[in-house]
Amino acid sequence: MERTFVMVKPDGVKRGLIGAILQRYEQKGLKLVAAKLVNVSRELAEEHYREHFSKPFFNELIEYITSGPVFAMVLEGENAIKLVRLLNGATKVEEALPGTIRGDFATSTTYNLVHASDSPESARREIKLWFPEL
Ligand code: TYD
Ligand code: MG
Repeated sequence: MERTFVMVKPDGVKRGLIGAILQRYEQKGLKLVAAKLVNVSRELAEEHYREHFSKPFFNELIEYITSGPVFAMVLEGENAIKLVRLLNGATKVEEALPGTIRGDFATSTTYNLVHASDSPESARREIKLWFPEL
């Protein structure tokens, strides 16, 4: 069993898509083990996205992720990390295929609705950061 950190970003919460997005993960067979709405501080946002600190899109990313509550969760299942990334779809909006969450619901690379850990190391780090009690 593997655990992964996933969040519905502020545009997903504002658009009322938490339920529709969570349903995709649950339908796939992943188990929700923790979830909460979080008003993300600048500190938390910068720590979460620290790998992108020197990227040109970093400031925009931090502004966006702190612009309203996110729905943070931990999902569990066999190959959970890879499977959630597949369900989310590609990062770049023009590469996110229909059938994926980004492909079906997003029209922007910045406002791309969902985040998920990309490796076992990042899953461990992100779960600890967002859910220290787990
Ligand atoms: P990244 O970790 O590369 O993508 P993913 O969310 O699929 O793991 O990038 C983090 C977020 O930064 C991404 O979800 C959207 C934003 N971003 C941009 O705005 N422009 C870009 O060119 C990239 C690569 C990402
Ligand atoms: Mg990433």
